Amino acid sequence: MFKECAIGANGHQKLLYLCAILLFMACSHSSEAFDPLDPFGNITIKWDVMSWTPDGYVASVTMNNYQMYRHIMTPGWTLGWTWAKKEVIWSIVGAQATEQGDCSKFKGNVPHCCKKSPTVVDMLSGVPYNQQFANCCKGGVVASWGQDPLAAVSAFQISVGLAGTSNKTVKLPKDFVLLGPGPGYTCGPAKIVPSTVFFTPDHRRKTQVLMTWTVTCTYSQFLASKYPTCCVSFSSFYNQTITPCPSCACGCHNKNDCIMSDSKKLSTKGVNTPRKDNAPLLQCTHHMCPIRVHWHVKINYRDYWRAKIAITNFNYRLNYTQWTLVAQHPNLNNITQVFSFDYKPLVPYQSINDTGMFYGMKFYNDLLMEAGPVGNVQSEILLRKDKTTFTLKQGWAFPRKIYFNGDECKLPPPDSYPYLPNSAFGVLPPAPFIIAMVVTNEQAFFHEDGA
Ligand SMILES: *[C@@H]1O[C@H](CO)[C@@H](O)[C@H](O)[C@H]1NC(C)=O
Ligand SMILES: *[C@@H]1O[C@H](CO)[C@@H](O)[C@H](O)[C@H]1NC(C)=O
Ligand SMILES: *[C@@H]1O[C@H](CO)[C@@H](O)[C@H](O)[C@H]1NC(C)=O
Ligand SMILES: *[C@@H]1O[C@H](CO)[C@@H](O)[C@H](O)[C@H]1NC(C)=O
Ligand SMILES: *[C@@H]1O[C@H](CO)[C@@H](O)[C@H](O)[C@H]1NC(C)=O
Ligand SMILES: *[C@@H]1O[C@H](CO)[C@@H](O)[C@H](O)[C@H]1NC(C)=O
Repeated sequence: MFKECAIGANGHQKLLYLCAILLFMACSHSSEAFDPLDPFGNITIKWDVMSWTPDGYVASVTMNNYQMYRHIMTPGWTLGWTWAKKEVIWSIVGAQATEQGDCSKFKGNVPHCCKKSPTVVDMLSGVPYNQQFANCCKGGVVASWGQDPLAAVSAFQISVGLAGTSNKTVKLPKDFVLLGPGPGYTCGPAKIVPSTVFFTPDHRRKTQVLMTWTVTCTYSQFLASKYPTCCVSFSSFYNQTITPCPSCACGCHNKNDCIMSDSKKLSTKGVNTPRKDNAPLLQCTHHMCPIRVHWHVKINYRDYWRAKIAITNFNYRLNYTQWTLVAQHPNLNNITQVFSFDYKPLVPYQSINDTGMFYGMKFYNDLLMEAGPVGNVQSEILLRKDKTTFTLKQGWAFPRKIYFNGDECKLPPPDSYPYLPNSAFGVLPPAPFIIAMVVTNEQAFFHEDGA
């Protein structure tokens, strides 16, 4: 890498550009929990003490997902903590502890959970009305803030016993653990904050809860998984080369368990049934990623250009609900039209507007189906050229970063991007040639098997 960069310094513009990307990638590796595209993203868990009881308190626990494009999909969140003293959970409304633990010292009225470190999960939808709580019972699924702020919340009510009974004696729970649904989140300590103010149900009176504490959890892709979980491939109308996902982009540890797309096993019953441990059943590919994002530079008009984006699922055991795709490209500030996906610009720093999120349209393509003939979603985007920056050279038309469901995808190495043929540098080939290439390229790409 650094050898190439030395050559770049000798005046090869293209290599300089590659080096910039490589250096950027090298730097961004150390950034851990900090996501530069969503610098304030977090999940905040708020405990509002609604009343004190003879031996403890009743609290509303609200989980707000303030991450722009990272949602919690099925099988949903799992929240754990450790009690500071000998607290027990008398009851929970809208969620449940996964284990009761040893409640043998209680006679008659037995707590819901006596564990020192309880683990709580959301209820599934369809629980009886008297066991519900506002924003509960969604199977632990929480939308991202960018996609659907109203659904980016989950809540339950908890009644705690053997606890302090005033804001002077109560002890905050410790060591919060949020799994959603896999690892990746790290939670800070609970902190007392100003008591939440809310309106009474008739919206006519403001009132205040008795005490509030919050816990903030942040996500680190590095903690979630050693390997990327998605990869990116490229193609263009001006070069027939399809730049595939890097080999073993997602690690090849699943290689022995993968299944060929024409395998007879795929027609056996239950092959698509998700497993308890969420183990994937991947289609055999050279990248071994569950998700591939393909970016095709499709047409170059006078004032606009058009790209096609296709997302393909290679996991036979997973449907992605409410998927999100984030792209970073300098021309997204002039995106003019997005076909068949919803789009929202992400503006983490006010001066730069080069990042946006794509997501499926409700009831149309917000479900990315399991691997197979329908396991893909596609869109085209139309971008207005800024004449001073637009170029087909040096891979400029390809995205700088791609995230799927909040995890950064592995891009091909920059020197493998489709080049603009030298003979036609900056000048477009005649139109029939372009159309022919678009057709062959797309056919080649969309008919290829799992490349
Ligand atoms: C969590 O996100 C919210 C909303 O963006 C923000 O106001 C808050 O400061 C964040 N908390 C932390 C600890 O970063
Ligand atoms: C504790 O409660 C008392 C009375 O209910 C109130 O005046 C006080 O502000 C509360 N303190 C905190 C830290 O919430
Ligand atoms: C995906 O969703 C479809 C339609 O809801 C369902 O038939 C299929 O079983 C699901 N597949 C998986 C792997 O859950
Ligand atoms: C960012 O770009 C989008 C797409 O062109 C535009 O709608 C939005 O107003 C821009 N935002 C800022 C802050 O420039
Ligand atoms: C592109 O967007 C930027 C910022 O949003 C704006 O200043 C510029 O005029 C736009 N260019 C074109 C060609 O629309
Ligand atoms: C197409 O791009 C590849 C790099 O991915 C390059 O090796 C090849 O020479 C290019 N083809 C033409 C016709 O320029």
